[in-house]
Amino acid sequence: MAAERGLAMATCTAPVNIAVIKYWGKRDTDLILPINSSLSVTLHQDQLKTTTTAAASRDFTEDRLWLNGKEADVGHPRVQACLREVRRLARKRRGGGEDTAALSLSYKIHIASENNFPTAAGLASSAAGYACLVSALARLYGLEEELSEVARRGSGSACRSMFGGFVQWQRGERPDGTDSLALQVAPETHWPELRVLVLVVSEEKKPVGSTAGMQTSVETSPLLKHRAEVVVPERLAQMMQHIRDRDFEGFGQLAMRDSNQFHATCLDTFPPIFYLTDVSRHIIALAHRYNAHHGHTKVAYSFDAGPNAVIFTLADTVAEFVEVVRRSFPPSTNGDQFVRGLPVGSATLLPELVGAVVTEPVPGAVQYILHTKPGPGPQLVDDPSQHLLGADGLPRSRA
Ligand code: DP6
Repeated sequence: MAAERGLAMATCTAPVNIAVIKYWGKRDTDLILPINSSLSVTLHQDQLKTTTTAAASRDFTEDRLWLNGKEADVGHPRVQACLREVRRLARKRRGGGEDTAALSLSYKIHIASENNFPTAAGLASSAAGYACLVSALARLYGLEEELSEVARRGSGSACRSMFGGFVQWQRGERPDGTDSLALQVAPETHWPELRVLVLVVSEEKKPVGSTAGMQTSVETSPLLKHRAEVVVPERLAQMMQHIRDRDFEGFGQLAMRDSNQFHATCLDTFPPIFYLTDVSRHIIALAHRYNAHHGHTKVAYSFDAGPNAVIFTLADTVAEFVEVVRRSFPPSTNGDQFVRGLPVGSATLLPELVGAVVTEPVPGAVQYILHTKPGPGPQLVDDPSQHLLGADGLPRSRA
């Protein structure tokens, strides 16, 4: 980034990802090193994204951070870890010579970040947030290397949002974490028919955050230890093969089983943690009835540390399953906004399907459905009118 009159600015966007082999548990809480490898699908930024602008200026007197328009604590240890690591890499790149380039590493920085989806509702906002922070800082300082190791220091799952498509976070072996990195398994173009439906059941903040929850699990759950040592290594290899083969039956079955095992480790934690709600369980039962009716796996659910369901399916199933969800959870007020994101065609349900699958409807339990698909990794925003900070380095007033 060129520094004009001592002010440099860069804006990036970054995606959310949903793990199909879940990360739950750290072996090093400071470096954020996981007890097992994980694998995720990066979701398209047309529907879910974080945008972050990072600016540096000799006129700034302190580092500052704004999240969704409100000033936040820039001293947060994870924000500081990302800043420190990016600056360390920038210094290394400049061969140790301080301030030879236009943009001084000693300048204070201002950061503004916004999500186009609810924060902390179990939609992996921290993953997109830290991936975006690291991408914007990297652009600001002219770094071109792979930075999943730095994003990992913000939030474990953030390292997987540094790539598009299908992404593995390999746990690594080294105590310093230099081999605990994200790797792309396949790009977003690999499986063009794959679709994702996010069933938003609650916009409330979750009761126990992932960071605290997984630490209690590490300390108390024997099931989690078995999962990390025995189950995940086998599943990871299988899941990579299902993705390579675009085998939805295998992919969907394993995604559901892995989500269920993650929530089983939450119940095995002491005191137990509950992220699934009655509505989540209704959705699980619905998916199984729907698959049973069709005689094979047409939809697969996955739940993170919250009650919202992420449904994986194929393009030819979307319209029918959305109609099944609409009948099962009739919208109370927002009928016209019930389906958002990518367009969904209309479907007429056969009476046999309705009879077998739509058992006791629960009105209003699903707020809305977001239709999306796999998408690319972080993007640079070239258009200066899209910067979240103005020429004075302060957040632009939002329209
Ligand atoms: C259930 O990455 O949010 O979404 O590393 O402590 O920031 P920290 O945790 P975080 O945990 C995500 C857990 C999960 C599963 C997953 O994304 O793999």
